[in-house]
Formats: sequence, C-alpha cells, structure tokens
Amino acid sequence: MSSPPGKKGSPSRGSPPFDEQGQAGGLGSEEHHYLTVDSGDSADDDFWDSDAGSITKALDHMIANCRNTRVAQQFDDRYNIAERANIRTNSLDNPGRVENGRRYNANAAGQSEYQFPVDELEQDRLDLMHHIFKSLLHGELYISPIAGTNPQRILDLGTGTGIWAIEIADQFPSAAVVGTDLAPIQPTWVPPNLEFQIDDCEADWTFGKSTFDFIHIRYLRAAISNWPRLYQQAYDTLRPGGYFEFQDPDLTFLTDDGSLPEDAALTTYINHFHQACQKMGKHTRGQPQSVADELYKIGFEDVKVVVKKCPQNPWPKDPHLKTLGRYSLLNLLDGLEGFAMKLFTGMLGWSKEEVDIFVLKLKRESVNKHYHMYFNYYFVSGRKPLTAS
Ligand SMILES: C[S@@+](CC[C@H](N)C(=O)[O-])C[C@H]1O[C@@H](n2cnc3c(N)ncnc32)[C@H](O)[C@@H]1O
Repeated sequence: MSSPPGKKGSPSRGSPPFDEQGQAGGLGSEEHHYLTVDSGDSADDDFWDSDAGSITKALDHMIANCRNTRVAQQFDDRYNIAERANIRTNSLDNPGRVENGRRYNANAAGQSEYQFPVDELEQDRLDLMHHIFKSLLHGELYISPIAGTNPQRILDLGTGTGIWAIEIADQFPSAAVVGTDLAPIQPTWVPPNLEFQIDDCEADWTFGKSTFDFIHIRYLRAAISNWPRLYQQAYDTLRPGGYFEFQDPDLTFLTDDGSLPEDAALTTYINHFHQACQKMGKHTRGQPQSVADELYKIGFEDVKVVVKKCPQNPWPKDPHLKTLGRYSLLNLLDGLEGFAMKLFTGMLGWSKEEVDIFVLKLKRESVNKHYHMYFNYYFVSGRKPLTAS
C-alpha cells in the first residue's frame, strides 16, 4: 500500500512548509514527497514482523495482566535497560541524582534542573540520535556553508556526550572547538583541538564578543526557557560573517495518510509532554517552526531552513528511510521512559507506576508498522552580517 500522493493532511499531518533550500512554501526535495509505504513482502520484513509481533504480544500481556512496577521491569529486563542505566548510576566520580532508577545531573544544591536522565542508557541514545541527525543530512554535521571557510573557533552548546564536537574537531583540525554542558558526561580522550566546559548556556556567556566563527546547538528544545536570549547571545558571540545553527526534531507524530489514530497514546503523550514542558517554563510546542523568524528578528541574515522527514519505525519502502525508521524506533524504545518519567511525575503529578504503564502502551504503538508516522527534523542556519559589530 502506498500513501496517495497529493492527499492533503489535517493540520497535524502533512509536509513541512520549507524545501531543502529553505524556501518557504516549496515541496521540491525528495524528503518532502509522500513517503512510500513498504508492502511487506521482503525477507527482511518477515524478520521485522516476527520480532515486532513478539514484542507486541509481550507488551499486550504485560499491559493486560499487570498493574504495578513489575510491568516495566519485565520489558526493561528483556532489553537490559536497567543494567545499562545503572553502569553510570553507580559511578563514584559523578553520582548525580538517582530517581526511579535513572541518574540525573545535579547542581551544587543536589537539584537536577534538566528533566532528562544523563546515565549510560541515555548517553547511548544520544549517540544513536547523532547518527540519525547525520543520516538525515546524508553524513554531514551541519547545513551552514562553512566548509572551505577555515573556521578558527567553534562552539557546541549542550554538547551531551560530545560526539558532534569530537567529529567537528576532527573535520576542522585547525579550529579550536569548545563543547559546553551542565552535565560532565563527555569523554576525556578527545581530539587535541577540543575542550569541554561545564557551563549553563542560559546564563550570561563569558566567551567575549565576536569570538566564534560557528555556534551550534542541537536537540535542547525542552531544556531552554528563553530562546530569543540564547539567539542574541549567539549573535553577540559570533564574529561578523559567522554562522549559528539550530537542529531539532519537531516532536509531533505526523502522518500523510492519517494512519495514526487521533486518540493514540503516542499523540496523547506528545500533548502531555508539551503541557509538562510549558509548566516548567519551556515552550516546546511549535518551536522549531519559529526559529527562522526569531533569527531574522535578532539580525541574522541568509537564514536557511531545511526540514527532513524522519520515519519513526521501519514502515517506508525506501531503504535509507527504512533504516532511519529502525534507528528511530530504537530511539523511542530506549528513550520513552526517560522522556516521561521525571517530567510526568514532577510536573503532572503522575505516579511512577502510571508512567510505567503508559510507556508500555507507547512502546506497543511504536512498533506498529501500520502507523506511518514521522517527525519533521528542523535544521536552521543564519549568518551574522559582515557589517555587524
Ligand atoms: C538531549 S541532549 C543533546 C546533546 C547533544 N547536543 C546532541 O545533540 O547529541 C541535551 C544536553 O543538553 C544539556 N543541557 C541541558 N540544559 C543545559 C543548559 N542550560 N546549558 C548547557 N547544557 C544543557 C544536557 O545536560 C544534555 O547533555
């Protein structure tokens, strides 16, 4: 079965408003065509269907028969999730703050401002996400036209495991690269031109004006309270002619064919996610769509927007997209608990058990290949004018 080309979606569905060159209103690039659904007749599919089938059955069984914390335990045991999370949970050099079996970063007062775990399981997931971001750009780390410009200083805000910073440092060996984060989860064995710093990118920056040629921020949407202020600090800190780049998925499960039911748990989850983020002062809904306008307002020029469809399980026929779907499904299976646990218990007053059961339902829907869902990933780049001070 193929999604019918030309079928118009509801506001929660459909193709993005930009083309690959960042022109508003375009539908020219391959990624923005309606994606073709796999008919499911390959040997590869047999393997997938039996695996997905057994996961679904296991999840059904757990949801139907259990209503306590053991439910999630059974699923997680199967995927070795607790063990992977615990490796760093038990780490002596940075114990952080452990809640409901996950480790969070902690500030000097022992509080964790960032709502998502930073343990081993999350770090593996971040590295997987790096691969997804890069695959969407066909192996590139950025969309800004900096290749051949010989950048001398590069800044990566909220660097996480530092994987992007490490690769950009390798790519530009003559550049001095700085990666900052609240959490000390970066490796120590890194390229000689890379330095990690513990720093809050929402605080006043101390880098000095006009000091960087390229500033990058990826996948921090639910972490930032004041994006315009961050853009302004990036503008001030860039050298004239330097580039700022934002990369983030829009967290809305979209389909072009309405195959995800409106009352799906995945849709409910996204609504709860935005509601919880809003409650803690992070306005996530519709945010990546407004980045270009906000950059123009600050004074950036040549703002370019690239939007890529990223399937959320291996439903498409196209091999590249199917692979992206596989990675994305793994990201959901590994990530959903961490996305929801602290946020929903802390902001929405859910119990751990409620989150456990809900996450199981989300996982069950995630593996359903009849749901032709995708996220739009936004890549937005802007240049500080050469004439700016
Ligand atoms: C989802 S991860 C993304 C990591 C990395 N940018 C990537 O794409 O792989 C978000 C990271 O931002 C960090 N973070 C959250 N709030 C921050 C802040 N105010 N300043 C600096 N880092 C922050 C978190 O500790 C976490 O490592």
